Amino acid sequence: MKVSALLSLIPLAAALPGSRWATKDSNGAFGVTAARSGSPIHFLPLTAAGSKFWLGGKSQTYCPEVVPNCAQGTNDTIIYAHNALDVIVPGGQSIYVDRTGALSFTTPHSGYIPPGSSQGPFKYTPGQSLGTWTYAGQGASGFMACPAPANSTMAARHVRRQARPTANRWQVFAALQNATVPTGNVNDCLGFEAMAIGLNISSGHLAWEYI
Ligand SMILES: *[C@@H]1O[C@H](CO)[C@@H](O)[C@H](O)[C@H]1NC(C)=O
Ligand SMILES: *[C@@H]1O[C@H](CO)[C@@H](O)[C@H](O)[C@H]1NC(C)=O
Ligand SMILES: *[C@@H]1O[C@H](CO)[C@@H](O)[C@H](O)[C@H]1NC(C)=O
Ligand SMILES: *[C@@H]1O[C@H](CO)[C@@H](O)[C@H](O)[C@H]1NC(C)=O
Repeated sequence: MKVSALLSLIPLAAALPGSRWATKDSNGAFGVTAARSGSPIHFLPLTAAGSKFWLGGKSQTYCPEVVPNCAQGTNDTIIYAHNALDVIVPGGQSIYVDRTGALSFTTPHSGYIPPGSSQGPFKYTPGQSLGTWTYAGQGASGFMACPAPANSTMAARHVRRQARPTANRWQVFAALQNATVPTGNVNDCLGFEAMAIGLNISSGHLAWEYI
């Protein structure tokens, strides 16, 4: 994107002390860890990367060099207000379920959500120590994790399956029977509970944006 456009947004964020970009105080921010005992996804963290969500692996955050003092606040995926990524970038980043059923997030500086997507309801229920995060749109009961090849070509998928099954990763979908999943078979997916860990976090410890 154009540097000038980015710079023009900085005063806006700075001028809103009472806004969601200001310091937060136990205000609905949380991280998510999967629970499905006896499975390979148990206790894997939810990560945002490439406009989609995964279990395990690394979140993809970005901090533009042109933003003054833009320290990389976190490499974790932090959610805010039920259905948004907790970011500093003006305009924020929303979470939705795309038409294939994949849990997705909007790109920075664009609120664009493709037609056929579902915007919820998503719900964060805080707990004493652990809360939950759920999605109940389209009659779904929460989320499922589907094996996804690390390399998207069919040939490589086959090779990696044989040689290095750990190279696979888990992509997060809404738990829908008609989801279009990477292996083509929804029975390959594992439903899980999204355990939510409430965070009291200040803006200095947020990602600028997820990409
Ligand atoms: C959240 O953090 C702030 C700043 O560190 C602190 O003053 C406040 O007491 C904390 N709130 C809770 C509920 O822990
Ligand atoms: C995030 O990862 C980058 C690159 O590995 C590192 O430089 C940075 O210190 C990390 N930030 C935090 C808050 O851990
Ligand atoms: C999948 O099923 C749900 C629930 O029946 C429905 O709301 C949704 O439109 C379906 N999605 C597609 C892509 O067919
Ligand atoms: C994926 O596999 C193809 C074919 O084997 C290879 O050319 C490509 O570099 C691989 N991509 C990644 C990201 O590993």
